[in-house]
Amino acid sequence: MPPIQALDFIVKKDLLQECKAVVKSIPDHLPENQVLLEIDFFSLTSNNITYGVIGEKIGYWQFFPTEDAYGIIPAWGFANVIKSTHPEVKVGQRFYGYYPMGSHLLVKPDKISPNGFVDATPHRKALPAIYNYYSNIEADPTITPDSEKLISIFRPLFATSFLIDDHLAEMEFFNASQMVLTSASSKTAQALACLLAHRKKTERLELNIIGLTSKSNMDFVGELGWYDQVIDYEEIDQLNSDQTHVVVDFTGNHQTQFDLQTSLGDQLAYNCLVGLVDWQHMRGEQKLPKKGEFFFAPTYAEKRQKEWGVAELNKRLGLSWKIFESAVISTIEIKDYEGEESLTQLYSDMLSGKIDPKHGNVVSLP
Ligand SMILES: NC(=O)c1ccc[n+]([C@@H]2O[C@H](COP(=O)([O-])OP(=O)(O)OC[C@H]3O[C@@H](n4cnc5c(N)ncnc54)[C@H](OP(=O)(O)O)[C@@H]3O)[C@@H](O)[C@H]2O)c1
Repeated sequence: MPPIQALDFIVKKDLLQECKAVVKSIPDHLPENQVLLEIDFFSLTSNNITYGVIGEKIGYWQFFPTEDAYGIIPAWGFANVIKSTHPEVKVGQRFYGYYPMGSHLLVKPDKISPNGFVDATPHRKALPAIYNYYSNIEADPTITPDSEKLISIFRPLFATSFLIDDHLAEMEFFNASQMVLTSASSKTAQALACLLAHRKKTERLELNIIGLTSKSNMDFVGELGWYDQVIDYEEIDQLNSDQTHVVVDFTGNHQTQFDLQTSLGDQLAYNCLVGLVDWQHMRGEQKLPKKGEFFFAPTYAEKRQKEWGVAELNKRLGLSWKIFESAVISTIEIKDYEGEESLTQLYSDMLSGKIDPKHGNVVSLP
């Protein structure tokens, strides 16, 4: 049998705008205990762009190595086993997990259970465990053919929001009443706003959930129904500096951080740095008065896994997901992209922030 022609979408590590699709050959005969997955689809949001922006610092380039100077941005999606020399993983099985932006992934399954396996490929060993796990869809009742695309878009982002919400609640919201979420239209912020709004209602909390967004996204953010107040980046001085605030920052924009810190001063009780969607404006000349605290979801998840156990964490996540899933389903429009040309366009638009926040984008490279 001839080798399999696989496609990888690769980007220049120090110039993310430079990207191309490259073809590689995968031998028809796999070495012992290996499995070849054919990627059905993956989602693309700014979170993937951030993987590229901090690829060197956090190690994201190490998951799927490629040509020198280039990297493959990881993406969350679904894939089917098309070849297996591992006795415990069968052709036809379908797994959710962390894939290259491409058409195929070769893995070395380890710690196999009915729920899934860990990819023990040596170059992935030192990376956070959460990214090396592949879930067998048959063992996860929350995954249905109808929910797969929503899951590929939201699951990792939602998990982050669940953990931030949990952290804020545990810390009694740092005695603040004003919760400010920047890049309020981003999917991670949406999920957090939804969970905070739910908590506010069910626990009768005195919280004001404020969405900070671009002028052009204000209507969309307002219509979501989870924010009590929506303001744009030029209206930061309208925040009530008599009240104590928590900021959860998804934008990473230096000027926004500067404006928030100077306008709120000591009324900024906790500055939670989560995202970098505005990656081209992360730096600025003005020195920031205060530092924030970087929130890294895999680290916080490990802490909760140790304290609660994996089953309990998953149970709470699952219950919480149901609340969000039923709310988000009516606000999102899923868009399908097929082939390298449409991926190149989508990727370039995403890099420059030209994406409609209402859209959830999924890609397949047949
Ligand atoms: N620390 C962690 O563990 C962790 C975990 C998950 C996600 N995150 C981070 O959270 C952030 C949000 O990710 P997401 O996937 O939810 O984002 P997303 O839904 O794709 O966000 C889209 C929104 O981000 C803003 N935006 C996007 N691109 C921009 C650009 N180039 N310039 C300026 N603004 C831009 C716009 O919002 P506005 O107009 O509202 O500003 C846009 O509507 C990412 O940086 C992601 O890496 C971090």
